[in-house]
Amino acid sequence: MWHPPQGPDIPEVPWERTRACMTRRSGSTVSLWHATAELARGDDLREDLTVDALVVGAGIAGVTTAYLLRREGLSVAILEDGAAGSGETGRTTAHLASALDDRFCHLERLHGEGGARLAAESHRAAIDRIEAIVREEGIDCDFERLDGWLFASRDQGSELLDRELEAARRAGMSVERGERLPLRGLGHAPCLRFADQGQFHPLRYLGGLVESFRRSGGRLFTGAHAEEIEGGSPARVRTSSGREVRARSVVVATNTPVSTRFAIHTKQAPYRTYVVTRAVAPGAVPRALYWDTADPYHYVRLQPGAGPGGADVLIVGGEDHKTGQEEDPAGRFDGLEAWVDENLPQAGERLMRWSGQVMEPVDGIAFIGRDPTGDDGLYLATGDSGQGMTHGTIAGMLLTDLVVGRENPWATLYDPGRITLRAASEFARENLNVAAQYRDWVTPGEVESADEIPRGKGAILRRGAGKVAVHRDEAGVLHERSAVCTHLGCIVAWNDLERSWDCPCHGSRFDPYGKVLNGPAIRELGPAEPS
Ligand code: FES
Repeated sequence: MWHPPQGPDIPEVPWERTRACMTRRSGSTVSLWHATAELARGDDLREDLTVDALVVGAGIAGVTTAYLLRREGLSVAILEDGAAGSGETGRTTAHLASALDDRFCHLERLHGEGGARLAAESHRAAIDRIEAIVREEGIDCDFERLDGWLFASRDQGSELLDRELEAARRAGMSVERGERLPLRGLGHAPCLRFADQGQFHPLRYLGGLVESFRRSGGRLFTGAHAEEIEGGSPARVRTSSGREVRARSVVVATNTPVSTRFAIHTKQAPYRTYVVTRAVAPGAVPRALYWDTADPYHYVRLQPGAGPGGADVLIVGGEDHKTGQEEDPAGRFDGLEAWVDENLPQAGERLMRWSGQVMEPVDGIAFIGRDPTGDDGLYLATGDSGQGMTHGTIAGMLLTDLVVGRENPWATLYDPGRITLRAASEFARENLNVAAQYRDWVTPGEVESADEIPRGKGAILRRGAGKVAVHRDEAGVLHERSAVCTHLGCIVAWNDLERSWDCPCHGSRFDPYGKVLNGPAIRELGPAEPS
């Protein structure tokens, strides 16, 4: 079993030891949420099973879908290879925003006024649904409604904000020009104020949802890795331990789908995003969501009272880059800390830092619906676009309607099979970037010999015509796997921050020993070529 070490230069949590270290799976750094919530574990899957609906993945999209399907009276099970919330749901900053970060003026260009309006409506409905579930199920997760502020970054004027104000109003948003941004240090910045946004503690919410789901008769199986997913009547999922689950409907909600090799992966791109936190005196930063217009942009919120001695925790994210294409990921934290120092003088002691993965659809809208390969009974949810909490909740509502045969007004907008012709240039840019990654097959290795790899690190070695991913663990023992990603054959890269092998093509990630952390790969890295 992998016992992930603390990442390089990551401060220990000073006020509360992490309780989730042994169960987190998608990286080495520890998020504030992981440090302050238990991850729900389910049962072992010991026998074959037949249910009405099976959900693969216990992040917010999977658990919300399972919970809502159970409320329809279906027999429902969830398969999760870690614990509930051990993937990207535990690495978000949990902004509940209907003020979409792809900007309404951009979404209008791609999807028309009607599409932008539906997108806004669906995210507002998602926040409403979360609020209703929190109330009905009595979930203690710090949910609150607050304003969202979009402000111009230092190098930009207000022209983008002017266009966004008009487009957001056409999309039905409650938005106005702000007189003064309530952030000391940035008060002068031109800004817009969006009403009725929200925030919560994502893992406490997820934990409450899991509890309600199981109380109502839903079944959660953890430590169960889905290895083959096959549509049909019934659809079937086989696990790596040899069990089979049959279901009329199978929903694949694994951040990026592991059930389809091509269709979706050409239409979205994986990005790493980074988060730093600082202690601030209670009340020094008004409770709200904040985003600037930089590219990549910065996003800011507060977690009240969660810091040392009851201080508020300021959470700042950004510095995104394509997965597997950054040699110094820890350096991205320095960029964020510098931005905080320059712009937010009220920020105090440095606390935790972590990174996460975002799937960016080329046209800014998630993919939620029937599997586009046409396989019977298969559904998927992916393409969070950095708004995973609301997109995950939309997935729950929309997929429930599709599974039970109800009309849903958002189905066409989110259809995974759609082709958005107006996003052709974004599509071409991302796929040229992917094609360029195959050059790694012919480049030399990063090191000549494994002797050059220090403890706790990894590097790629050339061995004959092939490449080998070599990791030296903290005890000095070498672990070798093939460096060829089991999705579509790109060469993986060592991520020294999260201690993982990351694929630069479609974002698959593997632990230091080759086990899958993130799809679309479904199989572990193969054995290394013999020397
Ligand atoms: Fe597609 Fe690696 S994720 S080739």
